[in-house]
Amino acid sequence: MEMVRVGIIGCGMITARRHAPEYTENPRSQVVALYDADQERARELAAGYGAKVYSTVEELAAAPDVDAVSICSPNYTHAQYSIMALQAGKHVLCEKPMALELEDTRRMMEAAEKAGKILMIGHNQRLLPTHRKARELLHSGMIGKVLSIQSNFRHPGPEYWSVNRSNSTWFFDKDKAHFGALGDLGAHKLDIIRFLLDDEVEDICCETATLDKRYPDGRLIDLEDNASAVFHMRSGVMGTMNVSWTNYGGEDNSTIVFGDKGVMKVFGDFAEDIVVELRDGTRVKYQVGTISTNTRQLKSGIIDDFVDSIVTGRQPTVTGKDGHNTLAVIVAGKKSAAQRRWLKVEY
Ligand SMILES: NC(=O)c1ccc[n+]([C@@H]2O[C@H](COP(=O)([O-])OP(=O)(O)OC[C@H]3O[C@@H](n4cnc5c(N)ncnc54)[C@H](O)[C@@H]3O)[C@@H](O)[C@H]2O)c1
Repeated sequence: MEMVRVGIIGCGMITARRHAPEYTENPRSQVVALYDADQERARELAAGYGAKVYSTVEELAAAPDVDAVSICSPNYTHAQYSIMALQAGKHVLCEKPMALELEDTRRMMEAAEKAGKILMIGHNQRLLPTHRKARELLHSGMIGKVLSIQSNFRHPGPEYWSVNRSNSTWFFDKDKAHFGALGDLGAHKLDIIRFLLDDEVEDICCETATLDKRYPDGRLIDLEDNASAVFHMRSGVMGTMNVSWTNYGGEDNSTIVFGDKGVMKVFGDFAEDIVVELRDGTRVKYQVGTISTNTRQLKSGIIDDFVDSIVTGRQPTVTGKDGHNTLAVIVAGKKSAAQRRWLKVEY
């Protein structure tokens, strides 16, 4: 396939900032179709890309001149729209979190298998050159045997990002988002932990809280705006994760890995991407390429990887199974917080 013709469902912030420009920048793909529940928003975006606006998802999914579809609509639509597009014979790049429930992720993977099409999930952090370098250094044994890991993602909240810049955003709607900060930000950090360590989470104990986010009428939102988890990897590595929508200072997207020969700090400081501190006092810095924040967007790499996997037939860097295994930890974390106890992750 010389040119991958793409349809995008959902024309909000992630499409405007990432999917639409990155497909356009890639010489092997172009945006030809758009759909949004808000047709006016789709039309506004289409004007800049020369794409056709569809009035239903079904029509876009069935369009013969569409080869691949990006699903960039709210979380509750991910499984339904992905399966619709896969059944119509399209490759699918679905944003994170992959779905709301594990039975949905299984149905999505089955649909991809049956159609013989690619299903990739938008866990873009593993495409970042800094995380790829960190993984390479960890696997080279630079800090020795990994003992524990800590990963955080804390920003001021999705109402500062979403196309609807207000507290009536769908991100705060329990029916549409299903997860609060745990699913929204935890999806990134749990995937990056799995990626860096090449390992799966065995069990988890999680606490969630709604500390500050309110609906326009002043009630606290029905979803967690903070979550903290302790977990063990299958290898025995111990981990902690903190995610928050109530960090009103500088964004924190850091990961620290503690090994028996030293410590690796990834994005601990924006001026230094990776810092390795060894037991003997040596301090090594790597400047690989920084990370996006809500206010400073950089190329994600996820689109290029998706297009390349379609053109070459190779597996995408983030598979449906990755999305499923990451969601399994989120689901277990949510359950653990509700039951206030440790739980084994069921995959
Ligand atoms: N990978 C990342 O780093 C990243 C970052 C942000 C968002 N996301 C994900 O992308 C998805 C979209 O988030 P966003 O930030 O663009 O949200 P947004 O609020 O900015 O935009 C959502 C868009 O979806 C449209 N929409 C609502 N219901 C719809 C429906 N039923 N069908 C089609 N369109 C519908 C809205 O009109 C809006 O234009 C979410 O799943 C989110 O978790 C991923």
